[in-house]
Amino acid sequence: MAIEFPEGFVWGTAAAAHQVEGGNWNNDWWAWEHNPDSPCKEPSGDACDHFWRYPQDIALLSELGFGAYRFSLEWSRIEPEDGEFSRNALDHYKRMVHTCRDNGVLPVLTYHHFTTPRWLADRGGWLEDETADRFARFCEVSVAHLGDEVAMSCTLNEPNVVALMGYLLGEFPPGGKDFEGFNRSSAVLQRAHRLSYDAIKAGPGSGPVGMTLSMADFQAAEGAEETMNGARAVIEDVWLENCRGDDFIGAQMYTRLLIGTSGMPLPPQPGVETTLMGYEFWPHSCEVTVRRAAAMTGCPVYVTENGIGTADDADRVRYVTEALEGVRRCLDDGVDVRGYFYWSCLDNFEWAYGYGPTFGLIAVDRDTQARTVKPSGHWMGEIARANRLV
Ligand code: BGC
Repeated sequence: MAIEFPEGFVWGTAAAAHQVEGGNWNNDWWAWEHNPDSPCKEPSGDACDHFWRYPQDIALLSELGFGAYRFSLEWSRIEPEDGEFSRNALDHYKRMVHTCRDNGVLPVLTYHHFTTPRWLADRGGWLEDETADRFARFCEVSVAHLGDEVAMSCTLNEPNVVALMGYLLGEFPPGGKDFEGFNRSSAVLQRAHRLSYDAIKAGPGSGPVGMTLSMADFQAAEGAEETMNGARAVIEDVWLENCRGDDFIGAQMYTRLLIGTSGMPLPPQPGVETTLMGYEFWPHSCEVTVRRAAAMTGCPVYVTENGIGTADDADRVRYVTEALEGVRRCLDDGVDVRGYFYWSCLDNFEWAYGYGPTFGLIAVDRDTQARTVKPSGHWMGEIARANRLV
């Protein structure tokens, strides 16, 4: 049976600068990867050498059938020191935008995907209000340079994860572990979204602007309903409320979280299928969160990331099939979902997990950098081309 998608539905894949470019030594993540006290498994190193190989990579995505590519700017390359902007770096990203266009692929740009320049992290990073202003300035300079060929812009990628992992759980830089830091960074990041949204909207181009949020199918363990609502309020709701009235909301989801009475997620229940991230295999999270993102913001929704870290490519096909069936049910109920971006195009640097969890549609040989399209890559490309799931 074939499941059709509406005309104009956007099919893409996504990546982030630090996870694929290589050699991003001037940001807080590189420092974190080399900090013996961090939980990082290995440094990012040369990553997928996408900084140099992007022309071939974008051409390959186009050849496979994808109509859009979501990638991010590396702030530390563009603004290596406070107020010093690199024309070379800006030109590099402009060339990436043009390469997408030349290949018939819509360039979808993320201005911040987890990494912050070292000079700014050293001044207090997302705990400092001025970081929001610095980010808006970076967006203003970048949008002016990149011009009007960007199809869609995402301000911050999953700022809720930056606040949670970086300031409460200690897994991302700067390794903070207190509620005060979590609350403070959340407020600064929310302000950063609003300021950068205005800065990008004021620049050249008329493509939609929005933010992407990490979401999950939150469920409560017995007796933990109120605790779960409280946890979800600070992890999702306040961020969604901050995005009301935007051009779109980017929903990103991977699993479900069973919240216990302590407010923390319980490990996956015994016997459930898990992924290389240790998450429960739960493609149904896509439908649940798309509905929730739409209802809470009133904005059109793009699934700006969804995928699975697995060594078994058949699991990827099964996961995406179920996720897309959920998207179709949302559409049937009138939810305004406009696109789906698979995370990720390439097997890449999975933050603290290093190169272990493979999310890619395309495998990357870590010694030679050779790309090999997985069966799921051909399969998804066909879906994109045909605008239907068979
Ligand atoms: C992030 C990606 C990450 C993916 C898989 C999202 O939270 O935006 O950078 O690789 O999840 O864990």
